[in-house]
Amino acid sequence: MKVLEASIEARQRDVQPVAEPGTGHVKTGQGTPRVDGRAKVTGGARYAAEHVAPDMLFGVVVCSGVARGRIRQLHLGEALAAPGVVEILWHGNRPRMRKLGLFYKDMTSPSGTPFKPLYDDRVLYSGQPIALVVARTFEEARYASSLVRADYEEEPHETNLLENLHRAREPRRMKAGFSAPPGPTGQADSAFAAAPVQVDMHFHHGVEHHNPLEMHASTVLFEPDGHMVVYDKTQSSINSRSAISRAFGIPARKLTVKNPFVGGAFGSGLRPQYQLYLAVMAALRLEQPVRVVLTRQQMFSFGHRPETWQHVQLAAERDGTLKAIIHECIHETSRFEDYVEVVVNWSGQLYKCDNVRLRYEVVSLDQYTPLDMRAPGAAHGVHALEVAMDELSYALKMDPLALRLKNYTDVDPAGGTPYSTKELRACYEQGARRFGWERRNPQPRSLQEGGELVGWGMATGQWDALQMLARVRAVLHPDGRLVLSSAASDIGTGSYTAFSQLGAEAMGLPMENVAFQLGDSTLPFAPVEGGSSHVATIGSAIVGVCERLQRKLWSIARVMPDSPFRDSARSDEVLLLHGEMRWKRADGQAEPAPAGALPLADLLAWWGRPIEESYFQLPNKLQQRKHVCATHSAVFCEVRVDEEFGTVRVTRVVSAVAAGRIVNETTARSQVMGGVVWGISQALHEETHTDHRLGRFMNHNLSEYHVAINADVQDIDVVFVPEDDRVVSRIGAKGVGEIGIVGVAAAISNAIYHATGRRVRSTPMTPDKVMAPGDGWEAGDAAVGIDPGTGRFRR
Ligand code: MOS
Repeated sequence: MKVLEASIEARQRDVQPVAEPGTGHVKTGQGTPRVDGRAKVTGGARYAAEHVAPDMLFGVVVCSGVARGRIRQLHLGEALAAPGVVEILWHGNRPRMRKLGLFYKDMTSPSGTPFKPLYDDRVLYSGQPIALVVARTFEEARYASSLVRADYEEEPHETNLLENLHRAREPRRMKAGFSAPPGPTGQADSAFAAAPVQVDMHFHHGVEHHNPLEMHASTVLFEPDGHMVVYDKTQSSINSRSAISRAFGIPARKLTVKNPFVGGAFGSGLRPQYQLYLAVMAALRLEQPVRVVLTRQQMFSFGHRPETWQHVQLAAERDGTLKAIIHECIHETSRFEDYVEVVVNWSGQLYKCDNVRLRYEVVSLDQYTPLDMRAPGAAHGVHALEVAMDELSYALKMDPLALRLKNYTDVDPAGGTPYSTKELRACYEQGARRFGWERRNPQPRSLQEGGELVGWGMATGQWDALQMLARVRAVLHPDGRLVLSSAASDIGTGSYTAFSQLGAEAMGLPMENVAFQLGDSTLPFAPVEGGSSHVATIGSAIVGVCERLQRKLWSIARVMPDSPFRDSARSDEVLLLHGEMRWKRADGQAEPAPAGALPLADLLAWWGRPIEESYFQLPNKLQQRKHVCATHSAVFCEVRVDEEFGTVRVTRVVSAVAAGRIVNETTARSQVMGGVVWGISQALHEETHTDHRLGRFMNHNLSEYHVAINADVQDIDVVFVPEDDRVVSRIGAKGVGEIGIVGVAAAISNAIYHATGRRVRSTPMTPDKVMAPGDGWEAGDAAVGIDPGTGRFRR
């Protein structure tokens, strides 16, 4: 094994983001620029594929060309003879791996048996990795990978969801943290039949892929003593470490996984992906550092938002009172795991209704297991519900917002459980005011400007407010620097900044004095950065550890000579503000200095050694179980439709969000804006198409898989409605991120209806669908999957 050179090692050191000098004291709630901003724009921030070693080898993956069967033979001779090629790994020569599926389970696995990369000759899906070509340079590996040929024993495959709806079944088991739909309340079917106003709609959502800017990559390095350091693109360094530790039987203490910088993930990094296993395999076998980066095409080969068919039936009294909600969903999963997401449950929560029936089923296909993607389940489920609500508002001749307010609920309609906080009504009011909703003429096709039809639509959004468990360590140095650490992640969301801000405020320190270390599996335990839960989780642990530090400082202040706090009886008589310890007044505020203030710098200098504390944050389950914990949004949007071209421009979006206390106004706003952009993308552009003869995704590149670009994004206005939720987290925050996308595609769909009088029921709403009359899917499609007599899915 080669040893890293010192110079390389120095370059290897990760940049520690800290606020720019002079940033000063920043209260939570206020906006402050990203502390990792400079490192990112100057290239100082190193991503998983940017770490180097002098003797590094490069692996390029070869993927299966068939969807199901066995590999009969791999023809490797030509590739092995190509320049620079060192080795080709495949199931015949890989290092020893564990056999049992349970060793491949990770923190976010669904039920079933996880896929084991290069394990044996079985092909489970098209695009599955079947070999790794390792060469001295990336280019040599890439060229040689094109020379690998495979003979397969092909078996018939099924990738067509529509043709397999009759195989729909309930998932075997819901994943931890995901709830199955609650049982029916009332008599939904008879209430539907008896109600005077009804809507009955089917919806289709195609496959979507995450497409973060940074491709998935893993770089395996060795320290001089053989300790393995893996830079991985992941939403949890601890999850990745445990995955490879278990699969290869490497003791966790001989292995560190790091992810200090992640170029977007959106769920694609929740599970350890196959490039991680392959890079480790090659490094173990060749005993050299190895880097494996997936190509953009290969980014379409390990999980996606599942294709989904939904059926929504709503019925109401003539005054708008909802009488029945029936929501059924069928989506795909793989043959080997039961992927689940919460698609239909929202329909039982968002509106008051006595008769609700929800059904959720999956169909196993010869496809990789779908994967959580920003607001999994809600992005599709709330879309269907909110478009159906719009349709109902027209059937009732009622304003869409008035219909929602008419059926507003402050408790979970199913069990009467109260919300921890729910400022959705304020979201509706503030969003509508900002947008100018009261000026809307409800008549479709009533507004035309230039050659375009203008439409206004709105929708509701909801997402879970989650809290997990985590530990944070704090070290306060004699020079006044506070270093907080936890194996948390910052996948581009602003964690570094929000966490530093929370620590700085709690300790009364200027921002530039505080560093938050994350992205390293040797740091104290943190969960995956997922479900928009990181701030509620890690943020609470930060406040917890800072309280301990403050108590320690108080006990030092009591013994320090000439300290104004020598006679202080209780630690809660003091607080830390603007670099000083001060007396706390009865109203909780600080006594204005200098009435007995002690500069922290003096105290720390006198103590002369670092002060260390750690805090383990458990979720506040006792309270959380008694409440529904959720974030809410009201989305209003304007579209302009050119009917001759079928093109839609989203010219204005107002998203009013209630997500508890906002820690950093700047990064939270960016999160919601990003969600809105993705909502535009989901509504108008994104879909991965499968050629079912090959069982293969065909548009696996950014020229044919369209994502929203700058030209698709115009005016986005984000409003944070004040909320403070001490049930979800002790800091009052609920978390933003996923709430940003929920409801956006529905608002756009509803605006297109208002503009054109045409109801498109499948996403993306591409020009062909916007131009053509009908439901937005191919004429033959519905006939295959939906029984025209009953309107139900064929089974
Ligand atoms: Mo999110 S889909 O939990 O990264």
